[in-house]
Amino acid sequence: MFDPSDIRKDFPVLKEYVYLDSAATTQTPRPVVDAMCDYFYNYAANHGRGAHRLARETTNHYEDAREAVAEFLGGDYEHTIFTRNTTESINMVALGLDWEAGDHVVTTHVEHHSNLLPWLRLKEKGVEVTVVTPDPDGTINPNDVDSAITEQTKLVAITHVSNVFGSVSDVEEITSIAHRNGCMSLVDAAQSVGHMSFDLNKIDCDFMAVPGHKGMLGPQGTGVLYLKDTDSIKPTYLGGGTVYAVTEDGYKLEDAPGCFEAGTPNIPGVIGLGRGVEYVKALGVEDIQQHEEGLAMDAARRLSEIDKVEVYGPMKRAAVVPFNVIGLNPHDVAMILDETKKICVRSGHHCAIPSIKLLKVEGTVRASFGAYNLPEEVDLLVDTVEQIATTLT
Ligand code: ALA
Repeated sequence: MFDPSDIRKDFPVLKEYVYLDSAATTQTPRPVVDAMCDYFYNYAANHGRGAHRLARETTNHYEDAREAVAEFLGGDYEHTIFTRNTTESINMVALGLDWEAGDHVVTTHVEHHSNLLPWLRLKEKGVEVTVVTPDPDGTINPNDVDSAITEQTKLVAITHVSNVFGSVSDVEEITSIAHRNGCMSLVDAAQSVGHMSFDLNKIDCDFMAVPGHKGMLGPQGTGVLYLKDTDSIKPTYLGGGTVYAVTEDGYKLEDAPGCFEAGTPNIPGVIGLGRGVEYVKALGVEDIQQHEEGLAMDAARRLSEIDKVEVYGPMKRAAVVPFNVIGLNPHDVAMILDETKKICVRSGHHCAIPSIKLLKVEGTVRASFGAYNLPEEVDLLVDTVEQIATTLT
């Protein structure tokens, strides 16, 4: 049975800190760190590049991790590309599709910069970009995406869960709208995979980008790009590991996933990520979702009851709770939470300035939750924020 107190033994840092910043990065459980140590201490070699036993063992572990991650996402092995992070995954799509002047991209006001800047840069090539405005609580209405699509729309790029509002958008419906209109869809699943049920078989998007170091509990410097059709984009990088044959005149690319993973990859990271998805699977994503969202909704409700505290986003939310103490700078609030109670929250614009502008504030304090958080930590957050709001405003 899922028991957050029991898993905390796998996260030694939680003995000392109240870690409420899992939307930025989750903590890494011991078995993931152990899997990476095992690689370094017992069989480290390069991937896919040698006949000796260590190279073979490394390659097997790396490819096992790909299988584990593909299965976890509900996707296919060859279509699961390892990257450094979500940002790289999305940029690979922006750089890998063929664009012509007049093409059109639909995205939204609740995107992280990583799912906005790569599309805005395409304006240099004459690509037009429409940015759809969400409901006041940060939720994207699929009908508004439908209305923004034109004959020229090539791609709809949308986040599943806003890292600023904690709102969840119906990416399955939005993808089906995109497909009905003859365009492709990209889902930024940075804040959803591992935190809530997510199945590529159902969502059916053309591209999906996700980090390894958030809900999948892998290490930093790992990410995944899922390609429904492995011929839909050209590889961004070429070099070692991407080709079958090369002459002075040209080259023949390997099939996916190899052609998309140029150079020596983050081998220990990928092996750790493979262990991370096994860990999450054993906990059970449905239980994780219920637990994290329960904590988030409780925190949001109780914070909003404090005089001089403003909470943003929908009441029914993912594990992200943005708020402000009126009259105080969010960074100051975050510093006080840390200095007084070792509560770690993020503050500022969360790399999503257009979202923050919608709220008409300079930034927010953001508490976000992981499977390992406890109701007592919500109590401490709420009590400390109340003290700050009472004594410092
Ligand atoms: N995108 C991450 C966050 O929202 C880093 O904090």
